[in-house]
Amino acid sequence: MQRRTVLKAPVVLGAGALLGGCGAPAPSPGAPAPSTPSASSASASRALLAYFSRAGENYYYGDTRVLEVGNTEVVAGMISAAVTVDVFHIEAAEPYPDSYRATVERNVREQNDEARPAITGTLPDVEAYDTVLLGSGIWNVRPPMIMRTFVESVDLSGKTILPFVTYAVSGLGRTVEDYTRLCPRSTIGEGLAVRGEEARGARAEVEAWLRTTELLPR
Ligand SMILES: Cc1cc2nc3c(=O)[nH]c(=O)nc-3n(C[C@H](O)[C@H](O)[C@H](O)COP(=O)(O)O)c2cc1C
Repeated sequence: MQRRTVLKAPVVLGAGALLGGCGAPAPSPGAPAPSTPSASSASASRALLAYFSRAGENYYYGDTRVLEVGNTEVVAGMISAAVTVDVFHIEAAEPYPDSYRATVERNVREQNDEARPAITGTLPDVEAYDTVLLGSGIWNVRPPMIMRTFVESVDLSGKTILPFVTYAVSGLGRTVEDYTRLCPRSTIGEGLAVRGEEARGARAEVEAWLRTTELLPR
């Protein structure tokens, strides 16, 4: 995969904040991914991996770099290679800009406005799953607002949510607090935080986490 450095000035991470609720299904759109869950058919798998990831110009060790594949998508690929999961790629109906700065600005607006950015395609039927792995980058110290759109559009009651994120400096940030508040009838399991710049070398870390979750045999 080819990457190139675009900006030379030091780059700051976003700023803004706020909350939501994990509710009843309200069908709205979805899309393909490494392997796709059927939108409504039964599956042999009891685990769903739903992730949002943005390719394009992104933060890279204080600078920026253009990524052909987003960091979270890389980690999602490692997970789906290691364990049996259905995969749902959360994609924005209005795609995020390639520009890092423009994306930071849009995210600040979305956080301040308590926005729920629309997801493209048909959302998966989550009824058959016991476990839902939720993956995203960290945007201004929490998952992007489109993750709220997702958890509020499918009914995750009674399911175990396993959050995983890629980040620059914040680790999981407020991910566990957000999903705990948004999904009060779900169990939030142990999360995984992988530094974005190191995602491509994180296979061992990812598999160790999968063992702690018991999705992979110990
Ligand atoms: C809009 C925006 C805001 C970000 N804010 C943070 C942040 O607050 N803390 C942090 O550690 N990383 C932050 N990052 C860096 C991303 O979390 C990191 O690059 C992540 O790996 C991106 O995942 P992706 O490539 O799957 O989209 C931000 C990136 C973007 C684009």
